[in-house]
Amino acid sequence: MRRWEKKCMRAFDSLDEIQNPIGTDPLVKDLADALQLTRRRAPFDNEYILGLVWRERRHLAVAGVTLLLCTASNLAAPVLSGMLLEMLVSGQPMTKYAEVLAVLATGYILEPLLTKVYMFNMLSAGEKVLATLRLELFRTLLMQRLSFFDKHTTAQLTALISVELDAVRSFIFNNVSRDRGLRAFLEAAGSVVVLFCLSWRLAPVCSIVVVAAGLAAAVYRRHTRDIERRQGQALSRMVTVAAQALDNMRIVRSFAGEALERERFQAHVGASYRAGLAFASAKAWFESANRFAIHASLLALYGWGGWLVSTGLMPVRVLVSGIGFTFSLLYAVQGSVNTLSELRRASGAFQRVRELIQNSDPDPSMYGALPPGAWWEVANGEVPAVQPYGPSAGDKAVAAARAGRGLELRDVHFSYPARPDVGVLQGLNLVLPHGCTTALVGLSGAGKSTVAGLLSRFYEPQEGSILLDGRPISSFSRGEWAKAVSLVSQDPVLFSGTIADNIAYGKFGMASPEEITAAATAANAHDFIMKLPDGYRTVVGERGTLLSGGQRQRIALARAIIKDSPIIILDEATSALDVLSERLVQQAINRLVKGRTVLVIAHRLATVQAADQIVVMRNGQAVEVGTHDDLIARPSSHYTELMSVQNLSMAST
Ligand SMILES: Nc1ncnc2c1ncn2[C@@H]1O[C@H](COP(=O)(O)OP(=O)(O)OP(=O)(O)O)[C@@H](O)[C@H]1O
Ligand SMILES: [Mg+2]
Repeated sequence: MRRWEKKCMRAFDSLDEIQNPIGTDPLVKDLADALQLTRRRAPFDNEYILGLVWRERRHLAVAGVTLLLCTASNLAAPVLSGMLLEMLVSGQPMTKYAEVLAVLATGYILEPLLTKVYMFNMLSAGEKVLATLRLELFRTLLMQRLSFFDKHTTAQLTALISVELDAVRSFIFNNVSRDRGLRAFLEAAGSVVVLFCLSWRLAPVCSIVVVAAGLAAAVYRRHTRDIERRQGQALSRMVTVAAQALDNMRIVRSFAGEALERERFQAHVGASYRAGLAFASAKAWFESANRFAIHASLLALYGWGGWLVSTGLMPVRVLVSGIGFTFSLLYAVQGSVNTLSELRRASGAFQRVRELIQNSDPDPSMYGALPPGAWWEVANGEVPAVQPYGPSAGDKAVAAARAGRGLELRDVHFSYPARPDVGVLQGLNLVLPHGCTTALVGLSGAGKSTVAGLLSRFYEPQEGSILLDGRPISSFSRGEWAKAVSLVSQDPVLFSGTIADNIAYGKFGMASPEEITAAATAANAHDFIMKLPDGYRTVVGERGTLLSGGQRQRIALARAIIKDSPIIILDEATSALDVLSERLVQQAINRLVKGRTVLVIAHRLATVQAADQIVVMRNGQAVEVGTHDDLIARPSSHYTELMSVQNLSMAST
């Protein structure tokens, strides 16, 4: 095995080996943990890609052999045709004619069969490499820090999987036929060689096709490179505008934004149209130049070849073969050019995928949380092992949260990566004692949801530390943390699917119907669910838009309840409910929070009066801490200010 082959094998095997270490013998686990630090994600570099391709060497070997046989058969056909014609003209015995015909017939029968084997093996290898790449790309996207998703649009990221990787797929798919790709290259080269063997006098004339078509192709490629880039850019911008408008159709409609959206879209369609026209003109010129080349070659062949035959310098069969080769040469050269330009497009698309992945910065706590998948898992319908989140996951964080000293934020400074200059938290100190409910109140924009986000480990503070039971929360694995903390966010989003699916998501999709019903009942959602025609099987629509805001909140609450985690964060979890439902859900929450460490964020201060402690946030700091009674006893506290504003507004309504 050569050196690069060994490297390729290593590159892939190091990824392939990743197995979920959780739940195995501690020694193995330590070893696997240590290994995982070095195996973050596929780098998508050449070594990795070659490693993937090398895995398909059997398919490629079969494809290689069949390709050579097919090409040999294709190259033999014009030679044999020439021989047949010459035998007829020179009146040779029919037995000899039948022999040559039999050889030709064998080639004609075998070639289609070999073509099938060649195409199937090439395409299988391509599909397998791509399936693995797709899984790996998605895995890498899932591993990114949340700030990555603040920077890139969903349309851009989904385009990587759909458009960009698919460009690679269609390149392989389109270039396995006879007049394309490797077959075309081999046939063009082979034709020239055979022609020279047949007649060194005639071959240079036939080679005019190669030279002319090659020149035309070079000019065409150079000319279209820029056009293609413009077209690709216009297309991706078009997709972004369309996806954004269609995704937010309610807002577009309510602001009568259709005309504006159309105008934006039209600008990109215009760019694509102009690029398309430039392409059309270049393509037309190229096609025309190719026709010229073939006509020039045929004329030269008849003129020069005819003279060679008439003077006895060349047998007539060679002239017939030459005519046959002229056509196959042209198609082969044209096919090669198409392949080259498609190769450029596919490699450009792949380069975009690679750049994004290589410049990304995955969350180190996600390393090893998701094992890489491979095509054979897809082929066998295997369910990937995601045990870090499963029932047998390590329970360190859960134990620390159940028995420890609670959560503490120590002098936390934080600004969002998208706006590094704006300090959202500026030296926040906050203790969430174990088993107690802490309420976080403050004006809009004070940074309350930011605290919830940091406790959920969506982001990491730039300074200061967040501790659970005295231990930095970043020292727990993602899986452990997901088990220990439930978040009901301010704007709960559901996945498209059924209500039952959404609630079961809280338990990694593995909840029994009884558990789902119990959680829904606790969240005061059971009754409304049963009134829906399909009950728990009701489809909630994309992002849950087929439900009301309050219904969505209650499903999100049930999703958190079913998780049964020791730490609960409720960010305005009941804000969309009417007073009666809110009271019922509040009762459910009161039952739920017993013995757990809870952070409640609420604007309506009436809902947090019973909390064990209330923390008032202002300018990214905790400015007051105490119980409701403590805080209202202070004459000019921020809390009383908030209370009086709310009472005033309540009174005025
Ligand atoms: N992803 C983000 N990227 C950049 N800035 C953000 C991001 N999310 C929030 N912010 C900013 O951080 C600040 C605090 O926001 P946060 O959502 O924590 O406020 P809040 O106290 O929860 O407000 P509200 O009561 O309105 O929910 C705001 O100024 C907001 O503009
Ligand atoms: Mg908020």
